[in-house]
Amino acid sequence: MEKFVIRGGRPLMGEVNISGAKNSVVAIIPAALLVDGPCKIENIPEISDVRILIDILKELGCDVEFDNKDSMMINSQYVRSSTATYDMIKSLRASYYLLGALLGRFKKAEVAFPGGCDFGFRPVDQHIKGFEKLGAKVEIDHGVIKLEAERLIGSQIFMDVVSVGATINIMIAAVKAEGTTIIENAAKEPHVVDVANFLNAMGANIKGAGTDVIKIKGVTTLSGGATHSVIPDQIEAGTFMIAAAATKGDVTIRNIIPKHLESLSAKLIEMGAKVEEDGDWIRVIGTEKILKANIKTLPYPGFPTDLHPPASVLLCLSDGTSTITEGIWDSRFQYVDELKRMGAQIKVEGRMAVFDGKPKLSGAPVKATDLRAGAAMIIAGLVAEGETEVYNINYIDRGYECIEDKLRSLGADIVRATK
Ligand code: UD1
Repeated sequence: MEKFVIRGGRPLMGEVNISGAKNSVVAIIPAALLVDGPCKIENIPEISDVRILIDILKELGCDVEFDNKDSMMINSQYVRSSTATYDMIKSLRASYYLLGALLGRFKKAEVAFPGGCDFGFRPVDQHIKGFEKLGAKVEIDHGVIKLEAERLIGSQIFMDVVSVGATINIMIAAVKAEGTTIIENAAKEPHVVDVANFLNAMGANIKGAGTDVIKIKGVTTLSGGATHSVIPDQIEAGTFMIAAAATKGDVTIRNIIPKHLESLSAKLIEMGAKVEEDGDWIRVIGTEKILKANIKTLPYPGFPTDLHPPASVLLCLSDGTSTITEGIWDSRFQYVDELKRMGAQIKVEGRMAVFDGKPKLSGAPVKATDLRAGAAMIIAGLVAEGETEVYNINYIDRGYECIEDKLRSLGADIVRATK
């Protein structure tokens, strides 16, 4: 078991490069199962979710080879199995994308219910509704979702809730369906667009990704041979932006798409930080006084729920009373008890956390209760007086590439240690 040991109090200074987006790559890798030949995926982050997915694809019969540190070839030509067992997927929430990909490829899929981060009940009813609309019979049996269709036929699907996962999954399953599928009330997150671009590069016909109506004209085959580069990770970039503001540092975050971070940039400016941007970078300069603010998480282009826990650290330090209202997940407040151990004053009322801002936090042993809560613990450790130990960092390794190396290059005092 490993932990991070952080000695806080140093402002982050310098430049950091952002890796490929976790939430994109965990859909793109399974989507490669649809392609009858090799495809090349670039800008792959080195995170444990990717390593797990590669193992799953290999078990299903894919050839997967890295030709560089962050670029790999996947060849799904000889895949024969449409079954992913619980053992294969148990620590991966995004395993649900195997359902759409295997259904699209074989008209049949058996995938154990997903694992991954636990922040409340995470239903898959909208995924299932979409698969049924495409003509699949769905059976849930002893923790396994079984899909089977004689034919997949394009359909009009109205999503009852805006779901990133369901939008992407239905899009993947519909690529090779007969006729046209229309997804209405679709999610507009950047990674929905990224997955559509990947599939289109392989010969799919998807239009409207990034809006709330996506049209997919079915094609009979997807041809191999294309290359796709994964978009930069909006949430990793946002985490470094928040860390820069919280430590009152000056950090330029490179290799990003600033437009994807507009809601955070606006909030940081409202809280007193200076934010400059151009081309593929954003510079955040923290200021002495962090102004109070109210945040509400919403589907894109609103404030991302995955930046809720990291942003909470800024609110702990704000000058006055601040709030975060969680608009996506029922229960995303497990980080609160951990921050309280560091002296934060936070009350949770339903879906809202109320922060009574204080100028300082103090170092303490804390645990990552999920991936983004783990990022919040690191930021809290960076600003706290004294030493903070962050436990359960396997959560953090799921989604942040070499976070301690990147932070050290910005001047942080953080080491990975064995318990
Ligand atoms: C993705 C992200 C996750 C992020 C979330 C919201 C990945 C791998 N993960 O998760 O980091 O926090 O988007 O931006 O991309 N819902 C239903 N029925 C469904 C599916 C979802 O009711 O079938 C509800 C959920 O309970 C939640 C909301 O819809 O309240 C949004 O969930 P969704 O967008 O599907 O999240 P994920 O795709 O699982």
